[in-house]
Amino acid sequence: MVGIFMTPGKFITFEGGEGAGKSTQAELLRERLGALGIRTILTREPGGSPFAEEIRHLLLDPRHKERSPLADALLFYAARHDHLTRTIGPALEAGNWLVSDRFSDSTRAYQGAAGGVSGDILETLEKWVVGDRRPDLTYILDMPPELGLKRAEERRGHDAVDGFENLDLDFHKRLRQGFLDIAKAEPERCFVIDANRDIDAIASEIWRICEKRLIPEAVTK
Ligand code: TYD
Repeated sequence: MVGIFMTPGKFITFEGGEGAGKSTQAELLRERLGALGIRTILTREPGGSPFAEEIRHLLLDPRHKERSPLADALLFYAARHDHLTRTIGPALEAGNWLVSDRFSDSTRAYQGAAGGVSGDILETLEKWVVGDRRPDLTYILDMPPELGLKRAEERRGHDAVDGFENLDLDFHKRLRQGFLDIAKAEPERCFVIDANRDIDAIASEIWRICEKRLIPEAVTK
């Protein structure tokens, strides 16, 4: 147990389309890690630091509809740089674990695969902004977009729809494929989780993977 506190923190991200249940699963994982005595901080993107939360506000404002995916990508990366500098980096260096509800793969899937921003541009931004601070483990919560959008709509109730949920079904199909392609390209880091199941079944699979991939390493170091 002592070993856990002495290891540098691990960085875990949750990714996926709309309504896949990322936030619920991120919170459940944080609780399970906490129960093992691992100090775990839950954060999110866009956001996670005061300045990045301001950018989030701007990005999710439903009044700004006519924007280019490149303008969005630059803002997501601006927010990410602040999030990394102010929150993620210091937390990991202090030995905390960090669970983030979305990170760079969202930009690759939403603005890249679905929005059409070139992979070269995003790779360059990724290199300069994220560098070596790539996640140790990423869960991609996958479900058919028709279902996810319906769930997101039910959850939202009468609140205004945000700029991304609102895009057409083709966009969300490209988005899903974008996430699956990332997982295929980086099988060491990314695990695709079937999100069309009950919460407990999903949480158990997520925990099994985390235990296998990160806990033994943390305990034995
Ligand atoms: P949010 O309300 O947090 O939605 P969700 O619960 O689905 O995470 O809004 C975040 C929105 O921003 C979501 O539609 C995905 C989008 N997004 C991008 O388009 N690119 C990105 O890089 C990130 C981090 C999010």
